[in-house]
Amino acid sequence: MQFSDVEGDLSEVLLTQEEIHEKIAVMARQIEIDYAGEKVLLVGVLRGAVMVMADLARELTLPIEMDWMAVSSYGAGTQSSGVVRILKDLDTDLEGRKVLIVEDIIDSGLTLSWLLGNLRSRGAESVEICTLLRKPDAAKVEVDVRYVGFDIPNAFVVGYGLDYAEKYRNLRGVAVLAPHVYE
Ligand code: IMP
Repeated sequence: MQFSDVEGDLSEVLLTQEEIHEKIAVMARQIEIDYAGEKVLLVGVLRGAVMVMADLARELTLPIEMDWMAVSSYGAGTQSSGVVRILKDLDTDLEGRKVLIVEDIIDSGLTLSWLLGNLRSRGAESVEICTLLRKPDAAKVEVDVRYVGFDIPNAFVVGYGLDYAEKYRNLRGVAVLAPHVYE
């Protein structure tokens, strides 16, 4: 889906498909340096991280494995509740593994700080985070994020995996959702 397909619902285009792909390539090159000779377990956080995971995994020249977790934090609204529930757990044993959490966006950071603690307690050798997008509020919580694609303004955004009430995930780029859609 292109921006023009849902134009009336968007107030500003933030990132085009090309800008996203260029950035993912940059992040992949750094990950290849940092994990040279290692097998990384990419852990994607459903459902938003599906697009980042698919593009990052294909861009990487390292051997990788992929696993998925689903957690809930937002429901159908636009504010983080702070309450994290595991809806789908990993199938992989993390003992001794090098884990890289792949995220679409860090907003309050509540979800990720909880997830970091949870995965670290399972005996992984290392757990790092790679996120495509980060909002300013993320700076307020102590989450050490190793790889960040873009710092974006504090607005509710959709596209490239990010939804509003399950819509717009298939938008190729990232845009700010027009307030009239959720008000
Ligand atoms: P946090 O716990 O506030 O960091 O929220 C993280 C999760 O909230 C992300 O994985 C997204 O699923 C969702 N989220 C945060 N900001 C946005 C946004 O602007 N658009 C869509 N989803 C968002």
